[in-house]
Amino acid sequence: MVRAWAPGRVNLIGDHTDHTGGLVLPMAIDLGTTVTGRAGGDVVELRSLAEADPAVVPLDVTDPSAVYPRWARYVAGVVAEVRPPIGLVGTVETTLPIGAGLSSSAALEVAVALAVGFRGTALDLARTCRRAEQRASGVPCGIMDQLASAAGVGGHALRIDCTTLEVRPVAMPGDVDVLVVDSGQRRELAASAYAERADACQAAQAVIGPLRDAVVADLDALTDPVGRRRARHVVTENARVDELASALTSGDRRSMSAAMAESHRSLRDDFEVSTDVLDALVERLVATDGVIGARLTGAGWGGCVVALVEQAAALPHDLAVWRVTASDGARTLDEGTDAPQ
Ligand code: GLA
Repeated sequence: MVRAWAPGRVNLIGDHTDHTGGLVLPMAIDLGTTVTGRAGGDVVELRSLAEADPAVVPLDVTDPSAVYPRWARYVAGVVAEVRPPIGLVGTVETTLPIGAGLSSSAALEVAVALAVGFRGTALDLARTCRRAEQRASGVPCGIMDQLASAAGVGGHALRIDCTTLEVRPVAMPGDVDVLVVDSGQRRELAASAYAERADACQAAQAVIGPLRDAVVADLDALTDPVGRRRARHVVTENARVDELASALTSGDRRSMSAAMAESHRSLRDDFEVSTDVLDALVERLVATDGVIGARLTGAGWGGCVVALVEQAAALPHDLAVWRVTASDGARTLDEGTDAPQ
């Protein structure tokens, strides 16, 4: 028997920056996905309580994006990248909400990769699973989700430089809680919309060079006003990652609040990936006692809002809230060991 567990992630700040080699500050969380199975045969066959139909993926699968049911595409992406010599029959269990912006797909990929025998560094695991995600979904995603899941450090967020792939753990203050609030709005990471934003960033880079190295004054060279706003989001968001990381270290509430507010504003107005539902939720949260700051988290177009709150602060009861803690990264579990949650 093999068992592997991989966490989801919440991104504290630094959204839509990873695909141009920028800075991100995600945190692996104590919600995740467990794959349990027995090696054998020539397919990877997994049943999930969350899904009606099983994933049955031949070891020689060639086009993960054409596999049904749709959730099996992520399994197929991993099989196509890892190419395990032997199959696996087992189950998938998850405590993550599916498709809500907490990287349920990355957690599935990373747990499947470990369960089918991938062995290597956290960075290699993340690279493999990022390629699996791209092949499965067609979305030209960055490495943040898979790397956060693979390299999580308990009690810490991860400041990741997506150019050098250096991961620096940033201790979370003990008196600040991280809440994830579900907007209830579901939108699959729309391949076309995400790719369109990524293309706009590439077009800007063709004119002014790597956005990772750019400053706001460089944006004047961009003549297309939409492209300029997209690039301005990325350049200013990269700076906010270090602002929030410093504020977490010093405990400076005012800076935490400002960085998160500016990030949400920038994602809403410059990158245009927010929705009315997300905007209203953020406004409501920041007006709530004990909330330090709130912003949409992940790709946008629905999903979740992340809030930093004073320890034990209560949110209105009508909201769907997860109080999450920073978790270690993915791992294989010994037989008989319980998954972390
Ligand atoms: C998705 C992608 C990530 C990242 C975020 C936005 O989660 O998979 O690579 O781009 O969106 O920050």
